[in-house]
Amino acid sequence: MMKIFLDTANRELIKKMLSTGIVDGVTTNPSLLSKEGGGIKKVLADICALVAGPVSVEVVEKQPDAVLKQARQIAAFAKNVVVKIPFAHEYLPVIKTLVAEGIPLNITLVFTPLQALLVAKLGVQYISPFLGRWDDIGVDSYALLEETMTIKELYDFDSQILAASIRSMAQWQKVAQTGADVATIPPAVLEQVFKHPLTAQGIKQFDEDWQKLGVQNFFQ
Ligand code: E4P
Repeated sequence: MMKIFLDTANRELIKKMLSTGIVDGVTTNPSLLSKEGGGIKKVLADICALVAGPVSVEVVEKQPDAVLKQARQIAAFAKNVVVKIPFAHEYLPVIKTLVAEGIPLNITLVFTPLQALLVAKLGVQYISPFLGRWDDIGVDSYALLEETMTIKELYDFDSQILAASIRSMAQWQKVAQTGADVATIPPAVLEQVFKHPLTAQGIKQFDEDWQKLGVQNFFQ
């Protein structure tokens, strides 16, 4: 079954969506955290405490040595933290070291199936292809995700494909058709799925018809 992560750092939205029972984890990034204002350490501590599943937290350092050091600090922050590292040639040795240390990684900003193949070879836990940003530049994100899934199946690698940068229900549905392991979904897209006008109209109609019976208790 597809795992569903919430793509937000907003604690109120996380609490609200967790109560549905369908959320398996959370992904954050520097842009999402910047929307939550100051006190980032507290924001992250709260999210890690709220969520039982994995919470991705991205490194913000740039030099490989600093990325390595910061990744270790982030990993030590909470037991359910997954360290997000952008795909880059110079980070591959860092990724290899962190995997050997048993630190769960989510490689982000992945834009080609071959980038995915390379980091799968290093044994990372999650690989995040960015669908919306592919579509923004006129590239068929669905085709690239399908190709990535084909490569995963052919080599039977353990890394999970975490479809990211999903901005619509249609995109999410396409992702589901590829068999991607995880989709990280913005709360606004999840809300759209919850609220279908025909479902609401159907409930209203059933209620109106039931009221016509004038029965107080269902089993009377
Ligand atoms: C999640 O891991 C990604 O950082 C996020 O989905 C990016 O989404 P965006 O391309 O809409 O910013």
